[in-house]
Amino acid sequence: MQTYQAQQQKLREKPRRWLITGVAGFIGSNLLETLLRLEQTVVGLDNFSTGHRHNLDQVRESVGSKLWKNFELIEGDIRDPVVCHRASTGVDFVLHQAALGSVPRSIKDPITTNAVNIAGHLNMLVAARDAGVKRFVYAASSSTYGDHPGLPKREDVIGKPLSPYAITKYVNELYAGIFSSTYGLEQIGLRYFNVFGRRQDPEGAYAAVIPRWAAAMIKNQPIVIFGDGETTRDFCYIDNIVQANILAATVDSKDAVNQVYNVALSDRTTLNELYRTMKTLLSERYPHVENHEPAYEDFRKGDIRHSQADISKAQTLLGYQPTHRIADGLKEAMAWYQQNLSMMRR
Ligand SMILES: NC(=O)c1ccc[n+]([C@@H]2O[C@H](COP(=O)([O-])OP(=O)(O)OC[C@H]3O[C@@H](n4cnc5c(N)ncnc54)[C@H](O)[C@@H]3O)[C@@H](O)[C@H]2O)c1
Repeated sequence: MQTYQAQQQKLREKPRRWLITGVAGFIGSNLLETLLRLEQTVVGLDNFSTGHRHNLDQVRESVGSKLWKNFELIEGDIRDPVVCHRASTGVDFVLHQAALGSVPRSIKDPITTNAVNIAGHLNMLVAARDAGVKRFVYAASSSTYGDHPGLPKREDVIGKPLSPYAITKYVNELYAGIFSSTYGLEQIGLRYFNVFGRRQDPEGAYAAVIPRWAAAMIKNQPIVIFGDGETTRDFCYIDNIVQANILAATVDSKDAVNQVYNVALSDRTTLNELYRTMKTLLSERYPHVENHEPAYEDFRKGDIRHSQADISKAQTLLGYQPTHRIADGLKEAMAWYQQNLSMMRR
């Protein structure tokens, strides 16, 4: 069984060329930081629609100018096949993260979500196939479980999608499967469950719950909990997601390839519990947070009530061993927002 440590060592000994799409986003910029630290060569593709230059600036500051020289940015759109081909040339491993996230965004504008998430994904698969990349790893999503009530979620049992976004992420899996069976492309889909951590955007209508709440509590602004707060999620810290991507790209076992995997912790946290933990962590530094209270509003359309992953497949076949439970991750994330919130508003 491979370990994360051993795979990282192998990469250090024999550096590879990687393409990260969505490199200026939350997950993409964290993948970039880790790969540069491992002395890899990285091409990044982004159109800055939801990603930010300040994310890349922060990675540059954190890794230093010597390692930063191993990074090349292509500013472009995955809806353009020419750009996808250019970015994929000479690449060993693709980590395809570019997409329009958010269920509410997809309900408001299903056409753009479809174009980016499905046509863009297909362009990337074609480009990866034509470039002869060694492996194509892509961001799938827990939204694919849709209306199936079973818990914990196992990769082979899914329900009907509950939103346009969920459809796009499921279609991503179908296309990836066809590219391995038809063209022999090695691919792995990682079904992320509610990822959080440094550089996740707190701003905008479609911000995820943890950064949005962190920013609101720090600024003493109101927050809304949709429903009764007993909705559960399997929140997963970014370092675990980075680990899963590197393992998926480098795993040797043939049984592990051309599969989808849950990437999470297999924990369930209610929104009320999440709120209380964040409140405790933030009130250490911001006393006003002690008096902060959330407002409760109706459930949102398209939201899944409960979510919890079975992660045994990733543990067994990829050697995935999460390093951060939710409390560890929240502690690091809250400390990061305390230090960096003003930078994110630049
Ligand atoms: N964050 C989560 O909890 C979560 C959960 C499940 C799946 N995912 C998936 O993970 C991936 C990364 O999500 P994230 O949270 O980092 O989001 P993000 O919005 O921070 O990053 C997405 C990046 O893709 C770029 N992008 C969007 N459209 C593009 C286009 N047409 N061409 C080129 N670049 C484009 C954006 O500018 C951004 O930098 C997405 O595929 C998302 O669907 C995320």
